[in-house]
Amino acid sequence: MTAAPNQFVARFRPLRLPRVCVAVTGSDPSEIVEKAEALVRDNTFLEFRLDYLARPVLALGRIKQFTEYHPHVSTIATCRRVANGGKFRGSVASQLDILTKAAAAGCQLVDMELQSAVHCKRTQLERLRTRAALILSYHDFRGTKKLEETLEKMVALPADFYKIVTTATTLHDNVVMMKFLEKNSDRYSLIGLCMGEQGIISRVLGVRAGSAFTFAAVSEDEKTAPGQVTAQELRSTYRIEQVDPATRVYAVAGDPVLHSLSPAIMNAALRRETVNGVYVALHAKTLKDLLGCVKEIPIHGLSITMPYKEAIVSHLDNTDAHTTKIGACNTLVRAQDGKLYGFNTDAAGVVRPLQQRISLEQAKILVLGAGGAARAAVYGLKERGAEVYILNRTLGPAQKLARSARARLVKRADLKKLTFDVIINATSVGMGNTRESPLNENEIRTRYVFDMVYDPPETRLMKMAKAAGAEVIPGIEMFVQQAARQFEIWTGKPAPLDEMLRVVNRVIEERAAAKDADDGLKKK
Ligand code: ATR
Repeated sequence: MTAAPNQFVARFRPLRLPRVCVAVTGSDPSEIVEKAEALVRDNTFLEFRLDYLARPVLALGRIKQFTEYHPHVSTIATCRRVANGGKFRGSVASQLDILTKAAAAGCQLVDMELQSAVHCKRTQLERLRTRAALILSYHDFRGTKKLEETLEKMVALPADFYKIVTTATTLHDNVVMMKFLEKNSDRYSLIGLCMGEQGIISRVLGVRAGSAFTFAAVSEDEKTAPGQVTAQELRSTYRIEQVDPATRVYAVAGDPVLHSLSPAIMNAALRRETVNGVYVALHAKTLKDLLGCVKEIPIHGLSITMPYKEAIVSHLDNTDAHTTKIGACNTLVRAQDGKLYGFNTDAAGVVRPLQQRISLEQAKILVLGAGGAARAAVYGLKERGAEVYILNRTLGPAQKLARSARARLVKRADLKKLTFDVIINATSVGMGNTRESPLNENEIRTRYVFDMVYDPPETRLMKMAKAAGAEVIPGIEMFVQQAARQFEIWTGKPAPLDEMLRVVNRVIEERAAAKDADDGLKKK
C-alpha cells in the first residue's frame, strides 16, 4: 500500500515553503538557537540539526521560544542517527520521541530516515504526522543509484515529503537525479539533490525539475562539502526563487571550474536583461561526461574553458569561422533539435577593448604567445586590418601561426629597437603571481599594453608598462567582452556591459579581501 501523495500540501496549504532551507548546527542549545536567531533576517526556512547536540531534548524549550517568536519561519527538526550519516547515538524509539517533542515545540516539519522509519509502527508515523509534516529521507554517500527502487520502498510508508540525497561522482549523476524528479514529482512531494562538487547543478536545477526545495550552507565558512553553495548565492546569484521549468540553463564547463567568475557575471547579466535563465558551473572531469550531460539536461548555452576548448571542436555539428580558424571553441549553443553549434568569442574579447581606444586598421600590434588565446587575438586583429607581429618562447608554434594568419615574426633581441601601438600578452606568464613578466621594462615601447591575464588584477607587466609610460588595458576587459559576446549569441540582446564589469570587479575585490583575511589568520 502506498501513502496518499501530497498530503502535506493539502493540510498545510497556507504554509508556502521557501525554495532554500539552511541547516543549523551547534554544540549546545544556546549555540544552535543563537545561530538560528542570526539567520532569520535573511532565511525563513531553517533545519535544526538536533543530532549535533549531546542531549537534543534540552534544546527543545529554547526552540519552542524561537518558533513562537518567529512564526513566519518554517523549521525542520532532524535528529539523524549515526548509522545514517548523522550524529545521534540513541535508539529509534528515542529519535521518534525527540521528533514528536520537536513538533510540539513548533517545528512544522520533522525529518526521519527511511532506515529508522521502517522500525516504527505505521500508527506511530501517522501520529507524528498529525503534529508535523514528515519528511522521510534517504542518503547515499557513495553514488546516485537505484532512485526508483528507493522511492518505491519509501512510499510504502506514510510521509508528506520524500527526500533522496545522493552523491554525484559525474555530471551524469545530476541528469539521473533530475530525470527522476521530473518523472515522479507530480505524484509525490519530493526533495532531491546530489552532494559533492560534481553535484552543484542539482542544487540549483533540482527545484526546476520538481524538488520541493533544496538545502544550502549557512555561509562560505560553514560549507561542509566541496562545491556546496551558500543560501545567499542560491538566492542572489542563481535567483533560485524564480527558477521554473521554462528557465533556460546556461553553464561554464571545464576542469577546474569552481573559481570561475562566469556564474557571477552571467547571472548578473541575465538578471539585468530580465532573461528567464540561470547560469551554473559544470565541473567536467571528462569531455564524454560533459557532452552526455549537455545532451540530456538540456542546456541552452555553454561557455567552454580549459581544458576542452580544442577537444570539443570535433564534436560540434557546425562552427563559426573564428572557431574553425582558431581551432578552439569557447561558446556553444544547443539548438532545439539538440544540434551543437560552436562559436569563438575570444577574438571579440581582444578586439572590442582595443576598438574602444584606437583604430585597428594598420595599427602595429605585437602579440606575445602562440597558444589558443594568442591565435584568437592574431586572427581577430588581422580581420580588422591590423599589422600583427608574433613573439613566442618556442619558435615552432609562432612560425605556424604567423604563416597561417599572414602575420610577422619578431625576435626577442629586436624588441628594444621596435615600437608598437599595442603589445598584448597572450601567454600565461604573470598568471597567479606578481613576480613574473613576459617582457623586461626596456622591451616595452608601445602606447598600450593589454594583458590578457586578469588574476592578479594588476600584473607585473602592467606595473612595468605604467612605469614605461604606456597605457594599460586590464585583462578583465577581455574577460567581460568575450562574455558579453556570448550573452549576445545566446539571448540576441545587447549585453549590459557596465553591470557585468561592475559585478566582476566586485567579486574580484571580495575574493582579494577574503584571501587577505585568510592570510592574516594563517599568520596569527
Ligand atoms: P592559452 O589557450 O591560454 O593560450 P596555451 O595554448 O597553453 O594556453 O598557450 C600558452 C602560451 O603561453 C604559449 O604561447 C606558451 O609558449 P610555448 O608555446 O613556448 O609553450 C606561453 N607560455 C607559457 N609559459 C611560458 C613561459 N614561462 N614563458 C614564456 N611563454 C610561456
